[in-house]
Amino acid sequence: MKKNTKLYETVAALMASGKGILAADESDATAGKRLAMVHLPNEPENRQDFREILFTAPDVEKYLSGVIMYDSSIKNFTDDGIPFPDVLLAKGIVPGIKVDLGTVDLHGFKGEVVTEGLDGLASRLKEYYDLGARFAKWRAVITIDEDEIPTDASIAMNSILLARYAQIAQAEGIVPMVEPEVIYAGDHSLEKAELVTTRTLQIMFQTLMTYKVDLEGLILKSSMVLAGDMYPEQSTPEQVANATLRTFHMSVPHNVGGIVFLSGGQTPKRATENLNAIASLGEQPWPITFSYSRAIEEPFLQAWGGKPENIAKAQEMLLYACEMNSLASLGRYDSVADAKLK
Ligand code: 13P
Repeated sequence: MKKNTKLYETVAALMASGKGILAADESDATAGKRLAMVHLPNEPENRQDFREILFTAPDVEKYLSGVIMYDSSIKNFTDDGIPFPDVLLAKGIVPGIKVDLGTVDLHGFKGEVVTEGLDGLASRLKEYYDLGARFAKWRAVITIDEDEIPTDASIAMNSILLARYAQIAQAEGIVPMVEPEVIYAGDHSLEKAELVTTRTLQIMFQTLMTYKVDLEGLILKSSMVLAGDMYPEQSTPEQVANATLRTFHMSVPHNVGGIVFLSGGQTPKRATENLNAIASLGEQPWPITFSYSRAIEEPFLQAWGGKPENIAKAQEMLLYACEMNSLASLGRYDSVADAKLK
C-alpha cells in the first residue's frame, strides 16, 4: 500500500499539465542511426555528447516531466562527472529507463514478434531505482499486415509479457509505462488501425487486470490511430483525434494513471498537430500528453549537425519542439504560426 502511494506520486509528476516525456532511450545501435543523421560515427563519446546536450538543455524542465534513458545512458556521466540521472533530478525531471531487451520472432507466427527482457528484471530495476529511476518502459510491437496480422495469439502473448513486467516494476516501486506500439508503417487504412489498436488495448488491459496490475500506478504509451504511411489517403488531425479517442474510450479503463503518445515515424509537425487535435476535443478521463523520441529529436539533430558550435542552437530547437508539444497537449498549438517544425 505504501509503495502504491509512491507510484501515484510518480504518475502525478509525470502527467503534470502542460508537460511531456522525452524518450531518449534508444539502444546503442539505434542511437547510432540518430548520430548517422549528423554524420557522426556510433562511438561512446558521440552517444554521450548526444545525451549530454539533450539533458543539459536550459529550461527543458518547463516542458518535460520525465526523460526515458537506456542502460548505457542512465549509467553515464556529463563531461564534468555528473551522472545523467542527477542532471535530470536537479531540474525536477523524473528519470526513466527502458527495460525491455528488444524483440524476437514469435515462432510459428510469420511477421510477428515478442519482446524479451523478463529474466533478472527485478534486480535490474533495483539497480535503476538506486540510480534514480522511478518509471520504466517496455515496448511491444504490433504490426498490421494483410488480414491475419496481428493475430490474437501474438497480442495475448505480448500482453502477458507486459503484465508480468508491470507487476515486477510495481513491486519495485517503479511506475510501468506499457507500450504496445501499433506500427504506423504500412498500407493499412485508418479504420484498420482503429480496429487493431482497439483490440490490442482491450486484450492488454484485460490481461493487466487479470494479473492485478494497479492501473492507477501505470501509464499507457500508445500509438495515435492513423492510416499507415503508405496508405494513399493520409488521415487529417481531426480524423486522428476522433479515431484515437474512440479507441481509448472502447478499451482504456478510466482509472489508468495517464496516456502518452509515441510519434511513431510521423513528421515532428504532424505529431504535434495530431496531439493538438486530440487535446482540442476536451477533457478526458485520463491526462494525455506526448512521449516522443523522433518527433522531438529530429529538429534538434538537424540544428546540431554534430558540430560543437551549434550546441546552443540545437538546445534552443529542443526547447522549441518541447514547447510546441506542451502547447499541443493543452490544445493551444498554432500550426500555421509555427514555421520551425517540419
Ligand atoms: P518515437 O516517438 O520515435 O516513436 O519513439 C517513442 C518510443 O518510445 C518508441 O518506443
